[in-house]
Amino acid sequence: MSTHPPPPVPVAPIPVLSGHARSDFDLSESELRACLDLAASVKATPGAYNRALDGRIVSLLFEKPSLRTRITFEVAAKQLGGDSILYIGPIGGREPVKDVARNLERWTSMIVARTFSQTTVDELAAWSSTPVINALSDLYHPCQALADMVTLREHWGALEGRTLAFVGDGNNVAHSLMLDCARLGVNFTCITPPGYEPSPGILAAAQRFASATGAVIGSTSSVEDGLAGANAVYTDVWASMGQEHEAAERARLFASYQVNAELMSMAAPGALFMHCLPAHREEETTDEVMESPVSVIFDQAENRLHAQKALMLMLARGNNKD
Ligand code: CP
Ligand code: NVA
Repeated sequence: MSTHPPPPVPVAPIPVLSGHARSDFDLSESELRACLDLAASVKATPGAYNRALDGRIVSLLFEKPSLRTRITFEVAAKQLGGDSILYIGPIGGREPVKDVARNLERWTSMIVARTFSQTTVDELAAWSSTPVINALSDLYHPCQALADMVTLREHWGALEGRTLAFVGDGNNVAHSLMLDCARLGVNFTCITPPGYEPSPGILAAAQRFASATGAVIGSTSSVEDGLAGANAVYTDVWASMGQEHEAAERARLFASYQVNAELMSMAAPGALFMHCLPAHREEETTDEVMESPVSVIFDQAENRLHAQKALMLMLARGNNKD
């Protein structure tokens, strides 16, 4: 009897993404879906893409600390046949941001920037002819949300109609998650203490996206209401980078929002636990929940690599000046 080898995993073509990835708004719904498909393909068959960024150098600019973002972008650039240069420090301190952009575009093929202010990302993009990727700002963390959507697809299969609840500060990670969920048909509830709600403008934009997909996007201060029916529960640090001086005050205000076993029991049976990391055990969540079988935190971290490869490949195709 003859045996046949298994069919090869289909290798997704690289779609075009023009311009920049300043925030989640820079990807349309179809570009977002294409990016998730490409991330899955890159993960399944990395060898098919290992010359795709041949000879291209990526500038990595970090105004804030990083483990996952920095390492995954460095590994991604190398595994795609390119390389990266790391700069750690203020962007726009020694010289205007517009001058930084117009230097880097002459030497490198892409700029990845982690900044305090979204304005810095926007200004880099306004002055750079090479693509700029937001690696976290005060308002958005699009690379994190892409990886999280890849992770949810792996665990849930189809995303549409599922519910993700975010518990914590309604800032960068929550904003990017709600914008992606809205466009992918995932219901999203942001559960925050009063005064820490998501930006009204970003929430309204997500609700507009959701009107096309049927997702329900909302914000509440009630843990019980927000967690009812949630298929995944996500949290993040209470004091983001740059807000460390507010940590004690926030610890008091956020205390009843800790994602512990009791809170997890308010979600749907089998709900996943998610965290962008780094986590502060026994603050926003507990060691017990992080180490529990429903925790997918290291899948999320792994998928940063694959999602960012996909994003870089699409931007490189859309901005092919080399
Ligand atoms: N989640 C995330 O962005 O991690 P780093 O801050 O370590 O990059
Ligand atoms: N909200 C956090 C996310 C860290 C990945 C921060 O901005 O520090």
